[in-house]
Amino acid sequence: MGIIDLRSDTVTQPTPDMLSAMMYAKVGDDVFGEDPTINELEAMCASMFGMEAGLFCPSGTMTNQIAIKVHTQPGDEVICDRVSHIYQYEGGGIAFNSGCSVSLLQGDRGRLKAHHVKEAINADDIHKPSSKLVSLENTSNRGGGSCYDFEDIIQIKEVCLQNNMALHLDGARILNAIVAKNENPKQYGEVFDSISICLSKGLGTPVGSVLIGTIPFIKKAKRVRKVFGGGMRQAGYLAAAGIYALENNVERLSIDHKHAQTISKTLALKEFVGEILPVETNIIIAEIKGKFTPTTFQQAMREEGIALMLMSPTQIRMVLHLGIDEQMVDKIIKLINSL
Ligand SMILES: Cc1ncc(COP(=O)(O)O)c(C=O)c1O
Repeated sequence: MGIIDLRSDTVTQPTPDMLSAMMYAKVGDDVFGEDPTINELEAMCASMFGMEAGLFCPSGTMTNQIAIKVHTQPGDEVICDRVSHIYQYEGGGIAFNSGCSVSLLQGDRGRLKAHHVKEAINADDIHKPSSKLVSLENTSNRGGGSCYDFEDIIQIKEVCLQNNMALHLDGARILNAIVAKNENPKQYGEVFDSISICLSKGLGTPVGSVLIGTIPFIKKAKRVRKVFGGGMRQAGYLAAAGIYALENNVERLSIDHKHAQTISKTLALKEFVGEILPVETNIIIAEIKGKFTPTTFQQAMREEGIALMLMSPTQIRMVLHLGIDEQMVDKIIKLINSL
C-alpha cells in the first residue's frame, strides 16, 4: 500500500476504465464548437439538472469566476458566506476579474439563511455598490462538507427574486450533497441561475468543471471563457473522463460518506480530538488538542503513510474519495486507535 492520501478529493488518479474511455473519445476543435464529446458532456450536465446548456472549463475556479463575471458589472456586489471558496481561495478573482466588492456573511458551517441575505442587500443608493449576485456553496468545503437544507435555498431564491438578484451555486461537490440528501439534481436547476459542477473532485476525473445555465447565459459565458484563456481545442479526451465519471462514480459517493463517518467516529473517541464538525458527506474537519498539535498529529500520521491537511491552527482535514478503499480505512482506524 502506498501513501493513503486524505489531503483532498482532488488527488484521485484516473482508473484504467476511465483512461480507456478517454483514449477512445471522438474529438474536434471545441473553440469551433466541434468536439462531439465535449458537446455530449455539456448536454448531459445540463439535462441532468434540467437546465438549457453547459460549458466545459478547465477548473471550478474558472466556472465560478465566469459565472460571477456574467452576472455582474464592475461596481456591483456579490453576497456570499465568509468561508466561500469564491472569496477565500480564488485569488481575489471577484475583484480582479469582475471589479466587484463582496459582502461576506457569517453563516452556519458555510451555509446562509434567507435573513442573512436580506439584511446584506444594499439600498438603491449611489453611495452603495449594487447587490447583484448571491453565491451559495453546496457542499461547503470549509463547512466540513456541510449540506444545505433545500428549503433554505428556496427561501434565499425568494429574496433574490424580490430584489432582482441572480443566484449562483458553487457546486464543486453538489453530487455529494445530492447523494447524501437523496435529492434530485433537477431541484437545483429550477432554483439557480447558474451552477458550477466539478468533475475533478469526488467524481475522480483528472480535470474539468461544467458551468450550466440558460442558453443566453452560456453564450455570454463562452465569450468570457475565451477572454480568460479557457477555450480548449481537442479537450474531448478530458470530457470523456467526465462522462465516464457521471455514469459510474456518482452513486459510489455514498461509500466515501460512509468511510468518513467511520473514521470520524474513531477520532471522536480519542482524547486528543476536540470538536469535529458534523460529518455529512466526504469531509472531516477535526480540532486537535492535548498531546498533539495539528502539525504533530499530521507528522505522526505521515510517518505511517497517511497524508492529511492542516485546516487552521487548531484543525486538520481528511477527505475521502474513490482512491480510498475499505482496507485503507481499516489501516487509518488502526493507526488512529494506536496514537
Ligand atoms: C468548493 C469549491 N469550489 C471551487 C473549487 C475550485 O475548483 P478548482 O480547483 O478546479 O479550481 C474548489 C476546489 O477545491 C472547491 O472546493
